[in-house]
Amino acid sequence: MEKYIINGGNKLYGGVKIQTAKNSVLPILAAAVLTDEKVRIKNAPCISDVKNMVRILGSLGCRAAYEGDDIVIDSSAADCHEVPRTLAHELRSSVFLLGPLIARFGRAKIAYPGGCDIGLRPVDLHLNGLKRLGVKIRESNGYILCECPGLRGNEIMLDCPSVGATENIMLAAVRAEGETVIKNAAREPEIEDLQKFLNSMGCKVRGAGSGTIAVQGTAAKLRGGDYQPMADRIEAGTFLIAAAMCGGEIVAEGISSENISSLLHKLRENGCKIHTKNDKIILKRDGPLISVKSIETQPYPGFPTDLQAQMTALCCICRGQSIVTENLFETRFKYVPELCKMGADITVAGRNAFVRGREKFNGATVVACDLRGGAALVLAALAAEGRSEVLDISHTDRGYGMFEYKLRSLGADIVRAAV
Ligand code: EPZ
Repeated sequence: MEKYIINGGNKLYGGVKIQTAKNSVLPILAAAVLTDEKVRIKNAPCISDVKNMVRILGSLGCRAAYEGDDIVIDSSAADCHEVPRTLAHELRSSVFLLGPLIARFGRAKIAYPGGCDIGLRPVDLHLNGLKRLGVKIRESNGYILCECPGLRGNEIMLDCPSVGATENIMLAAVRAEGETVIKNAAREPEIEDLQKFLNSMGCKVRGAGSGTIAVQGTAAKLRGGDYQPMADRIEAGTFLIAAAMCGGEIVAEGISSENISSLLHKLRENGCKIHTKNDKIILKRDGPLISVKSIETQPYPGFPTDLQAQMTALCCICRGQSIVTENLFETRFKYVPELCKMGADITVAGRNAFVRGREKFNGATVVACDLRGGAALVLAALAAEGRSEVLDISHTDRGYGMFEYKLRSLGADIVRAAV
């Protein structure tokens, strides 16, 4: 197990290049199973969720590996429709493979997926959507078993705009006979990126980002090729919140401000000066941090749940009180007791966290329990007075490539060490 040792109190200055989006690369890796031609995903982030997805593709008979900064996938020899339990448990995104495996092999077998322990995380919307396309599904011994001799297009209404369910259905529908319309689809930018990638392969998908997605199925041979997915708006938001908490001035490079406008509005309310120029977001904070009354996570374009923990950490050192409401996941406040060890004053009641701002965090030894909660602890330690240790950083390694290097380049005093 590894940890971060952080001496807090340094302001952050300089530029940080934002990585390619984890939550875009993962469904695109699944989509690569649909073609026998080589796919090159450019500048893929070097993070454990992506590495595990690459291993899963390997277990299916694909040749998949990092080549420098890229990931090259050749699925021409793929011959297995089953994702082993050991790998499926590593990450939630293993479930995205149901769609492409059914599309390619007419069947799929996947153990119930793992991922961050932030709630129940059912897959009923995935399975109901696939059933609407003609897939026969049974669950046995912790596995989901799917059979479908021929996918048929249909209209699907999602009970809630699930990102993963939307993507899984898209990945099956591209091979269905006829048209599929997904209503109440998730509108995240990563879904528009998946649409762009699928269309670059020769698929016919439109409407991503609008809430209604239409997929014209095709039996045509699908193309491979090079693809540069979008930048990681959650990594960008994490660095911007870090600078807001520590003070200073940073430039997040290679990111569209449109994709995190809900965060930028909140940070301006907090007293940060923010301006955007082409694909750069410049944030400066040199005055006091002012609390925002409430932060409510919502599906896109609302405030992203993946920035909830980091924003709660910021609220802890603002003047005034805030209420943070987590509307998407049932238990996404597990990091709160660890923040309280650093002096935070937070009371959690159901989906709400009531935060009373304090002067500062005090350094402490804390334990990460999930990806974004772990990032929030790192940010609190960077802003804290004194020395902190953040243990079990395998959680942050899942989604933040070169995290300590990037933070050090901005002036943070952070090192990785073995426990
Ligand atoms: C994706 O997870 C992201 N992961 C998550 O990011 C993100 O938090 C989430 O979308 C919401 O934006 C990836 O893209 C790999 P959902 P996903 O299906 O698809 C309920 C991170 O930190 N639901 O949109 O699993 C579910 O319980 C990760 O990078 C069902 O009820 O999220 C939740 O309450 C964490 N049934 C809500 O929908 C289903 O079949 C949103 O979940 C599916 C979901």
